[in-house]
Amino acid sequence: MEIQKVCILGAGNLGSRVALQSAISGYQVTVYDIDPNAFENAKKTMSKILYQLEKEGIVTKEDSTDSMNRIHFTLDVQEAVNEADIINESVLEDVEIKQKVWTQFGEIAPEKTIFTTNTSYLLPSMFASFTGRPEKFCALHFHDVFYSRVVDIMPHLGTDPTLIPLLEEFGKSLNQVPVLVKKENHGYIFNSMLMAFVGAAGKLLTNDVANISDIDKSWMVNFHMPMGPFGILDSVGLDTAWHVTRNMPDKSSQAFAALLKTYIDAGKLGEKSGEGFYSYPKPSYRDADFLR
Ligand SMILES: NC(=O)c1ccc[n+]([C@@H]2O[C@H](COP(=O)([O-])OP(=O)(O)OC[C@H]3O[C@@H](n4cnc5c(N)ncnc54)[C@H](O)[C@@H]3O)[C@@H](O)[C@H]2O)c1
Repeated sequence: MEIQKVCILGAGNLGSRVALQSAISGYQVTVYDIDPNAFENAKKTMSKILYQLEKEGIVTKEDSTDSMNRIHFTLDVQEAVNEADIINESVLEDVEIKQKVWTQFGEIAPEKTIFTTNTSYLLPSMFASFTGRPEKFCALHFHDVFYSRVVDIMPHLGTDPTLIPLLEEFGKSLNQVPVLVKKENHGYIFNSMLMAFVGAAGKLLTNDVANISDIDKSWMVNFHMPMGPFGILDSVGLDTAWHVTRNMPDKSSQAFAALLKTYIDAGKLGEKSGEGFYSYPKPSYRDADFLR
């Protein structure tokens, strides 16, 4: 099967990135959302990324214009999915919303359409039966798409195995490095490791072993990294981190989730809101003397 038309559900942070990379790679793309404001924000995100890619000589101005012309934004479900070869779903990380969306699109998508979800922490088996075509359903999970280019392919028990090589090829065509998660695992590969890492940092903080900047410095200096665990959490979004952490039953995760909630309640969501553990756009960990 040849993929030509890509449908993205959800025009938020990740949906807009996957949509843009699909268009840059030459696919025709439709982007669906229930909120027209999301389209305006998506277009802004896309032009910022294209500006950066042009500056780095990765795309030309003409490529950028052609890519944007390949993207069609719509609030209409039928128009979104017409002739789509593949759907990548990036709606809110909420089980019920995702189940509703998959029921809706399972009923109206063409028979040929492959269904994929970009969920960060949930499992495809939570949605497979809602799609009406569990054999054509698989997790296809992107990271940041442009800077972090790993794409996780994670089938559930009922996924048709012939889908895997197709998704690997599709991932490569989007300039990603595909990795196969052989069995369902919350957080795939990288996020599993990342959660253990930021969880350990959270435990050091909530147990008052060290403060935020010293924890980050330890990591940054020893591993020559541009940011530490709290800088990473700010870039992921403290709301996203809280959604994941609050579902972990152990005491340390619960204590860290409670701390994250105090930031969220104060409107501090990390980089996207201008403040989290650090203040943006110039967080102190980027200061020249932070590591002195
Ligand atoms: N943010 C990340 O770093 C990241 C990375 C990989 C995967 N993800 C996953 O991608 C998904 C989206 O995350 P995000 O950060 O882009 O969230 P976001 O909040 O930026 O965007 C979500 C979008 O979904 C839309 N939406 C809500 N209900 C909808 C519905 N019924 N139909 C269509 N659209 C609907 C919202 O209007 C919003 O535009 C989540 O499952 C998340 O776990 C996020």
